[in-house]
Amino acid sequence: MTFNKKFTMTVSVSILVFSVITAPVYAAEQPYTVIDGNHLDANSYNGFKLFRNWCARCHGTYGQGMVGPNLANSLKVINKKQFFAIVEKGKTGTIGNMPAWKRNVKVMDGREALYSYLKARSDGAIGQIKPKKAK
Ligand code: HEC
Repeated sequence: MTFNKKFTMTVSVSILVFSVITAPVYAAEQPYTVIDGNHLDANSYNGFKLFRNWCARCHGTYGQGMVGPNLANSLKVINKKQFFAIVEKGKTGTIGNMPAWKRNVKVMDGREALYSYLKARSDGAIGQIKPKKAK
């Protein structure tokens, strides 16, 4: 076996082992429940309502993007801690600028719920549809 093949195999095996180890952790971090493709748990549903009230005018009704970026994509890149910080402090970048939300108690208290809804969108667990609240 050449060095290159050995190297490739070692890398592949490492990635496989790493995925197996991290998979349960990842699953445990899933902050939402979707039933029948359109019913959200109460917390995530509340996140959708907050999103519609405060964020949709720039990020699109279901977070698909408009003036502001597609947040379903963003949440594949930024983690929860970064999401919390961006919402609190706002963000000015190449796309435009978003105001800070630190003085909006509803948004600040709702960050957990907002994140849950957007994570469900980001993972593809719920599409660009109006969700219902699971009973
Ligand atoms: C006035 C328009 C506007 C509103 C309202 C708004 N945003 Fe934004 N948001 C933006 C813009 C523009 C950016 C992109 C900044 C940049 O990187 O250039 C952005 C960026 C973000 C990012 C970072 C995305 C990334 O990939 O880095 C997050 C997260 C975010 N917004 C969440 C929210 C949430 C949650 C709300 C509702 C509480 C909200 N935004 C409301 C305009 C808005």
